[in-house]
Amino acid sequence: MEKTFVMVKPDGVQRNLVGDIVARFERKGFKLAGAKLMSIPTALAEEHYGEHKEKPFFGELVDFITSGPVFAMVWEGDNVIANARQMMGKTNPSEAMPGTIRGDYGLTVGKNVVHGSDSPESAEREIGLFFQQEEVLSYDKND
Ligand code: CMP
Repeated sequence: MEKTFVMVKPDGVQRNLVGDIVARFERKGFKLAGAKLMSIPTALAEEHYGEHKEKPFFGELVDFITSGPVFAMVWEGDNVIANARQMMGKTNPSEAMPGTIRGDYGLTVGKNVVHGSDSPESAEREIGLFFQQEEVLSYDKND
């Protein structure tokens, strides 16, 4: 069964949006396969966002994601990678549709409430960065 990595960023945790975001994924029908509240060490933040290393906002991105607790999750279900991205809405919250997480709660591209893997390759990589194998459960007997 497909799995993806979703993280409530420090702004979302501070604004008490964890419960709402978890509820949206549960109501949709996805299964929570792993979860933890954590502070991201700088080295992990730099690795996670490695593809943005050359971008002018890289420093800001790392500073923000390490600025407070995040809620890291693994969600399981059919087509969950693409679906989670639809549920989150566009990266820039000012362009995200109402009804999406960023459309409902975000205002700026830096503080955009949630992160979700953008492909099967990044889902596998990001789950591996944030979770030990034994921390990720499965509802699917064939996994
Ligand atoms: P995320 O899905 O976590 O992946 C990369 C992040 O970079 C993205 O969400 C945004 O929060 C952030 N980002 C993208 N563009 C900018 C920008 N111009 N300034 C600051 N942060 C940005």
